[in-house]
Amino acid sequence: MRHLVSVRDISPHEVKELFQTADVFREHYYSGSWSGEVVLLFYEPSTRTRVSFELAAGRLGLRPVSIVPETASVQKGEGPEETVKTVAAMGVRAIVLRTREEGLPRHLAELDVLPVINAGDGKNEHPTQALLDLYTLRRTFGERLEGLTVAIVGDIVHSRVARSDTWLFSSFGIEVRLVGPPALVPDSLAEVLGAPVFHDLEAALVGADVVMALRIQRERARSEELPEPLDYHRRYGITSERLGTRYLMHPGPANLGVEVASDVVDHEHSLIRAQVENGVFVRMAVLDFIARGARVL
Ligand code: CP
Repeated sequence: MRHLVSVRDISPHEVKELFQTADVFREHYYSGSWSGEVVLLFYEPSTRTRVSFELAAGRLGLRPVSIVPETASVQKGEGPEETVKTVAAMGVRAIVLRTREEGLPRHLAELDVLPVINAGDGKNEHPTQALLDLYTLRRTFGERLEGLTVAIVGDIVHSRVARSDTWLFSSFGIEVRLVGPPALVPDSLAEVLGAPVFHDLEAALVGADVVMALRIQRERARSEELPEPLDYHRRYGITSERLGTRYLMHPGPANLGVEVASDVVDHEHSLIRAQVENGVFVRMAVLDFIARGARVL
């Protein structure tokens, strides 16, 4: 694997191999055998993705180096293409990129001056989030994921997580349902993502094994698309009554009292902390794959 830009870049066979590597990192103390640096370039805010990539790199023996756009030559007008070529010339092993510009990771990967890992591009994709979500499902339900039903509830239209999750989960035989108000889950998404759309939460939850709640992305939505938070919570918020015996997931950050009730985040059926924990091991496996791929080139 040279780059990871989209979940569609990685085959089910490679995903399984990557998860076996993540299992090794989970189960055994790992003294890093890689050397060199990984650059983290985050043009958008992040807590989970950035910290877990920093931890993952450090545990492998790779040194994470962060470029903070506010204090970098971005302020002098330098664009991402020139930044990537500059750090590639310095001999770093890979770049982890978060941007609001959809398609930028693909464009930079095509320059092929160093491996590019997409840490989220606008509302397009967030492949490592989808991998850690699938890995969390595999640890909860076992190897056979076919027949599982996951209801993704919330602001699907602006969500890169929903896109990557739907494509990756579907390729493993998981039934995905897209749920929310028409402004945030238009019927046209059914064709784009290849999954049925529901506007009635209670109907969507019938037979669902897992509910994934998503944040309303105020930074991407137009004001007329934004629901009133209390009304949204009444219609689509995940409460312990609605959760029942299902498992709860959320990529974070969560707006408590809006898409999820505050008392369900640490509910016995919540996988939210497990998603965060697994993220470090899955990102270790991704970096390991990239480092191995880069070495043979
Ligand atoms: N899930 C996710 O990408 O979270 P951060 O924005 O905190 O990285």
